[in-house]
Amino acid sequence: MLDWSDRYCRYFHRLISRHTQLYTEMVTTGALLHGDTARFLDFFEEEHPVALQLGGSNPEELAQCARLGQQWGYDEINLNLGCPSDRVQSGRFGACLMAEPALVAECIAAMRESVSLPVTAKHRIGIDELDGYQRLARFVETLAEAGCRTFIVHARKAWLQGLSPRENREVPPLRYESVYRLKRDFPHLEFVLNGGVLNLDQAGKQLQQVDGVMIGREAYHNPWILAEVDRRLFGSTAHPGSRHQVIERLMPLVERECARGVPLKRITRHLLGLFHGQPGAKRWRRHLSENAHLPGAGPEVLEQALSLVPRH
Ligand SMILES: Cc1cc2nc3c(=O)[nH]c(=O)nc-3n(C[C@H](O)[C@H](O)[C@H](O)COP(=O)(O)O)c2cc1C
Repeated sequence: MLDWSDRYCRYFHRLISRHTQLYTEMVTTGALLHGDTARFLDFFEEEHPVALQLGGSNPEELAQCARLGQQWGYDEINLNLGCPSDRVQSGRFGACLMAEPALVAECIAAMRESVSLPVTAKHRIGIDELDGYQRLARFVETLAEAGCRTFIVHARKAWLQGLSPRENREVPPLRYESVYRLKRDFPHLEFVLNGGVLNLDQAGKQLQQVDGVMIGREAYHNPWILAEVDRRLFGSTAHPGSRHQVIERLMPLVERECARGVPLKRITRHLLGLFHGQPGAKRWRRHLSENAHLPGAGPEVLEQALSLVPRH
């Protein structure tokens, strides 16, 4: 999630769930090919399985970026076809590409030819007036012919004019039925439902109709919802232990990163919601918010914050 998640966030979430598939925020082909490639692509070994999400619409550039992603060790390459921001539309990538299925198919085919990793798509159920089911089904069919097998579907349309990206995640209604129908019409393809899922009970219900569930905002604000994923959804016996233990397991990374000059806040900003709904949650948040950004703040700030929350 652009501006929210990064590799520190993913490292932390991985301590809570071993098996959940994690995704990078969208990285544009321009940034990767003309910017500081390592800054965008470096990740921690512990993050696996992790997918690199790309934004772009030039098949050759996307192929190059997919190759870079494979070299860097990512497990999946995902193409963003759902982001509605103005910046994205002027660059001709993200959600506006849902109006150009043939071009997207070319992009998918070019990426698939250049890597052995799965190439997946994340899209909406429609854009603007182009929001009928038949059009959506043709879009999926066209991408499938180019070799896409997995579709992550944010189950609401996007209005490209007039709504902010934030409104585009809230205002258009969720239409899960469109995703269920895709699964029924294309049973050989994999559909991952996204949008508005808040807990594992809801995820479990969705999984009766679709192959996977992607959780965005709630996983960020309330990461402990991931704690039961391995046991409940992956049939594993693994459990992260307590919230305190997760922070204790995070500590060596915090020490290492602070020692090499990474500001503490870059890591702790992802931890604020860990105790959501628990006694001491407010003290935890407040201590981190008031201290982690101060000059010289280090791992001791995190230790202090943890000591303010009752252990149970
Ligand atoms: C701050 C923020 C940044 C986001 N950035 C991305 C992104 O880079 N790529 C993407 O595919 N979706 C992005 N999204 C959308 C989410 O992945 C997801 O599709 C959307 O929030 C709906 O799912 P949710 O209700 O579980 O949050 C972003 C969402 C937010 C709130």
